[in-house]
Amino acid sequence: MSSDVRIQIFDTTLRDGEQCPGAAMTGRQKLDVARQLARLGVDIIEAGFPIASRGDFDSVKEIARTVRGPVICGLARCINADIDAAGAAVKPAGKQGRIHVFLGTSKIHREFKLGKASDEILRLATEGVRRARKFTDNVEFSPEDASRTEIDFLVEVVEAAISAGATTINLPDTTGYATPEEYGRMFAEVIARVRGSAHAVFSTHCHNDLGLAVANSLAAVHAGARQVECTVNGIGERAGNAALEEIVMALHTRRDFYTHLTTGIHTREIVRTSRLVSGACGFPLPRNKAIVGLNAFAHSSGIHQDGILKKRETYEIMDPEEVGWGKTELPLTKHSGRAAVIARLKHLGYTLQPAELQAVFARFKEIGDRKKFVHDDDLVSLVGAQIHVAHETYSLENLTCRSGTNEKPLATVTLRHGRKKLAASGTGDGVVDAVMKTIDRITGLKGHLLDYAVRAVTEGKDAVGEVSLNVRFEAKGEPASGRAAATDVIESSGRAYLAAVNRWLAEGGRVSKKTRRTLASP
Ligand code: KIV
Ligand code: ZN
Repeated sequence: MSSDVRIQIFDTTLRDGEQCPGAAMTGRQKLDVARQLARLGVDIIEAGFPIASRGDFDSVKEIARTVRGPVICGLARCINADIDAAGAAVKPAGKQGRIHVFLGTSKIHREFKLGKASDEILRLATEGVRRARKFTDNVEFSPEDASRTEIDFLVEVVEAAISAGATTINLPDTTGYATPEEYGRMFAEVIARVRGSAHAVFSTHCHNDLGLAVANSLAAVHAGARQVECTVNGIGERAGNAALEEIVMALHTRRDFYTHLTTGIHTREIVRTSRLVSGACGFPLPRNKAIVGLNAFAHSSGIHQDGILKKRETYEIMDPEEVGWGKTELPLTKHSGRAAVIARLKHLGYTLQPAELQAVFARFKEIGDRKKFVHDDDLVSLVGAQIHVAHETYSLENLTCRSGTNEKPLATVTLRHGRKKLAASGTGDGVVDAVMKTIDRITGLKGHLLDYAVRAVTEGKDAVGEVSLNVRFEAKGEPASGRAAATDVIESSGRAYLAAVNRWLAEGGRVSKKTRRTLASP
């Protein structure tokens, strides 16, 4: 009989990960990611914060209804309306539903954020957990900013939460302030001092402000934590959360040190999951990102290459195939049929609706016409861009540009809006500016570009260029993000800008009839 202890992997990519600026995913994308997380073998998926918006509520509920395997969790503050919303959202998961309630406990949170005394915090935590228990037996409690909370008070709150019925206690390093020694010590002390600690699973949740999130998580595991909260690619608030792939592979690769600790992760799904998340949230991976970056297993120096050829383990501590870097699939070409594209998309973790598939296939053919091979990364980028917006109010019909070193750039754009074709021309301080200003002339909106990034998705001069941007359409409105991929970066820029327009409109942005100009012929 195995005496191994299973470390529960609690994935919060869809909640803490998605919470960071620019990482917003649509409900469809979240569902794809959740399905892939289930294939990856995570134990718990924190699917969102149901009270935050109707969209969040719906996507947690849909994931709870359709994704089988992992526990599905919804986040709530210790506020009745939050807990009730989380309870309703995870209900379709039945016994696999969890509510995660949290409340700030550190002095700075009590005094400045909440304006509440310690007794009041104890009461709210107890009542919050009790209310959550009315919906499910699976309740997690987090004393937010635990690592900066006075240890005696932390012990008191945790004890109260366990007595009220919490089955998991998470001790977050909310601000990424702790060091591994301190964080590990906090776990050891809380577990030793809290009455009833044996009735709860202790969990780590680390942010990466000092680059210590993974080290802190492992220190907590060493001190007795049995659940790790993390995100794919380490995405999350500010500098991000602890990266799932790094924690899992550290436990796996260093079994000699973390003896008897295992996870249920199917490590060969790691790279595929990483790409899916990167494509869905629009955060490209740095080449040198551990485990999943393009350079993670690339050896360029002659000495290293020579060593690897003689014996792989001289310079490689993991087998790349073990994390899913296996044989690369043959790239698709313009001759590839719909079935081949569907099969490849499925392999990459996507299950698209017929209309989405239609749109992706059409763009695949356009790109196939311009470029010899369509690689997996091109496809991921295409899908990410294509299903980024729920409804296309405007679509691009045509875009032509003229520019030179000594002439003012000029763009001519034709958009389709329902049955109408709208066209306009305009100049700008550069071709990209001219394209965006011309789109504004047609839509009647005035976008202010907050950030803009372009990257080559694969190698080679004919690589697909992916543009990700954020635009503010009103002085105080919420920014909208857009992403698009094409072999021509000016075209990707125009498409990405249009995606942001469509997203903003789909999420309730309005243009007054007066400002919308009908500029051209049908
Ligand atoms: O970082 C944090 O404290 C959180 C809590 C909601 C657990 O994300
Ligand atoms: Zn967090």
